[in-house]
Amino acid sequence: MKTKLHLLILSFAILLLSGSCNKQGKNTPPEDKMTEKKIDALLRQMTLEEKVGQMNQYSGWVDTTGPNFGDKNIFEEIKKGWVGSVLNITGTENVRMIQHMAVDCTRLHIPLIFGLDVIHGYRTIFPVPLAEACSWDLEAIEQGARIAATEASSAGINWTFAPMVDIARDPRWGRIMEGAGEDPYLGSLVAAARVKGFQGNDLSADNTIVACAKHYAAYGAAEGGRDYNTVDISERTLRDVYLRPFKAAAEAGCGTFMNSFNEIGGIPSTGNSHLLRDILKCEWNFRGFVVSDWGSVGEMINHGVAANKADAAALAATAGCDMDMESRCYREELVNLVRQGKVDMKYIDDAVRRILRIKFQLGLFDDPYRYCNPEREKNLILHPDHLKAAKEMAIKSMVLLRNEGNILPLKKSGQTIALIGPLAASKDDMIGGWSALGQGNDAVSLYEGLTAKLGNASRIVYARGCGIAEENRTGFQEAINAVRKADVILLAMGESRHMSGEASSRACIDLPGVQEDLIKEIIKLGKPTVLVLFNGRPLVIPWIAEHVPAILEAWFPGIRGGEAIADILFGDAVPSGKLVTTFPHSIGQIPLYYNHKNTGRPYSPDSYYTSRYLDETNDPLFPFGYGLSYTTFAYSGLQLSDSVMTGNKPLTVTVTVTNTGNYDAEEVVQLYVRDMVGSVTRPVKELKGFKKVPIKKGESVKVSFTLTEADLRFYDINMNFVSEPGEFRVYAGGNSRDVLEGSFWLK
Ligand code: NOJ
Repeated sequence: MKTKLHLLILSFAILLLSGSCNKQGKNTPPEDKMTEKKIDALLRQMTLEEKVGQMNQYSGWVDTTGPNFGDKNIFEEIKKGWVGSVLNITGTENVRMIQHMAVDCTRLHIPLIFGLDVIHGYRTIFPVPLAEACSWDLEAIEQGARIAATEASSAGINWTFAPMVDIARDPRWGRIMEGAGEDPYLGSLVAAARVKGFQGNDLSADNTIVACAKHYAAYGAAEGGRDYNTVDISERTLRDVYLRPFKAAAEAGCGTFMNSFNEIGGIPSTGNSHLLRDILKCEWNFRGFVVSDWGSVGEMINHGVAANKADAAALAATAGCDMDMESRCYREELVNLVRQGKVDMKYIDDAVRRILRIKFQLGLFDDPYRYCNPEREKNLILHPDHLKAAKEMAIKSMVLLRNEGNILPLKKSGQTIALIGPLAASKDDMIGGWSALGQGNDAVSLYEGLTAKLGNASRIVYARGCGIAEENRTGFQEAINAVRKADVILLAMGESRHMSGEASSRACIDLPGVQEDLIKEIIKLGKPTVLVLFNGRPLVIPWIAEHVPAILEAWFPGIRGGEAIADILFGDAVPSGKLVTTFPHSIGQIPLYYNHKNTGRPYSPDSYYTSRYLDETNDPLFPFGYGLSYTTFAYSGLQLSDSVMTGNKPLTVTVTVTNTGNYDAEEVVQLYVRDMVGSVTRPVKELKGFKKVPIKKGESVKVSFTLTEADLRFYDINMNFVSEPGEFRVYAGGNSRDVLEGSFWLK
């Protein structure tokens, strides 16, 4: 009874909130109130057609001789005020030309926003986002986004469809490459860092662009890891795991959100008013706008919740999808739907207000061409500082997975090095997927990086050996001959850049083609062998992890990847990256993630009837947070400032980390917590803090973390976001598996 009453009050509160959430908040700063007045004035002048036009986005593309559209009418459409934004038009000249159509040919002179997928760089391509997250270096991540924004804005772009903040627990899903991995805490910090990097402190500056948190929501939970597939998760998991980075992005001021393609529990996200209105726009007080994903309004027909385009447009607009990317449902249907009373005018006004608000914030009404300065474009694209930052980021993002007998680092001189593999000389693959205006020719391949580093000091013998995904073994012999002549073997293997990203799910995530077979042949020869892996997701490589003595996970390392790898291989840089995604032993273990639940029958070797596989361990191949260095670190003396946490008094957790090896290096010290008993089940570990600390060889440092009651909150049995008194375990270590343990009570 009590619970029912509680729910009733809660729903009433939500109702009240939703009534008021489209209105201006009390605390709106004065400059915003000015903007709102300008928007009011504009809205009063706009016809229904002009309003719907703002909610419509078209894609163009740029060819060498100028802009070109699939649909020739688009120019006319822009001139008639039927378009609010375009994507995939770049370059100051093109943007200026198209912007002119909107500003000078339409009745109300409303400028367009120019969007592009600037995901990990515009032309200076950084490592793929999953790799960047492995740096655990928020400042560097923010800086990467800053540079991407600087270049993109210099070329006319003022809106990026990034960051992708989808939590991914299934490495078969190709888009795991675009995010920050499996953890909601780290994912939230990375999301906020990227938003800050893109948007800076002033959206109207000519070097900042508006960010877009995508894909809202739970896109990464696609069944079977198959892109675009169905999602069915509980509201609790949605909020505790998948929504957290989105909330963090909203709190960081992210100007726009993008719908995901998937449904959740029967409701496609594009038509999900609970996600869009109740949570995003009301609960989180999000004041920006929501764009659909490409065609996702119209795809609600395929989903089977809309019979036709009119149904789809009505569903999406009512649910809170403010802009229609390319499905044209809004363009064709919304005006009629409003006239027929099927879509309430208040939804149109709210959507247009949000879109205009971002245009005002970008400063486009003051100067629609502020992102169209050809001088900036010429000077900033591929600026040497940007290239330097891309290289530094690549170094930070690589993860040393194995280094038996300390094969690495290699000595620079007097050796013959056999460089083998389909990725050894590839430039194109270095830049990874979703690489905007990135060009393979700008990139440094591993072969180039090595030759630049070694000069004549050592000899490099290169053999491709095999293709990435081909079955052809005719190159094996040449590779084996090269290996026979060499002192050290460097293997460059992995996926092609197109094997991860959108529509690039894989059912078998081993090394594609015959690459592993070639490795087996080479390992038989017993030479010191190092594998450099290029990939956009965790791979299933148990045999390799056991037999190849040194493995460096390089991901797709970006434009200066080859140089960065060479620095690490030859000891000019010490690896410090840590995995943000679990590597499974086998595909059958997926989904495998560190912050899983305990179950009622956690695995025990002493009991048959426990949660396990008959033919596989429950353990990962490499756990979340894992990554080696050229030095070694010892953890000792975990201490808590108190055994009890009360009210708002924080607790300090301290651990001593000693550099016990021979290199000065950085270590990512990680703090995890487990809530032992809750009103609902809690994960066996949750990341609650980390610090990346430089430690000189032989030195010890004390690393401290502050834990507060707020860090212990979750959605309880009544879906309240609270902490619950009781015992908590605390763990500190260099990865999620090898940790020291302590405990405290929350009173
Ligand atoms: C579809 C993708 O899902 C999305 O991430 C991207 O931003 C849009 N297309 C625009 O290219």
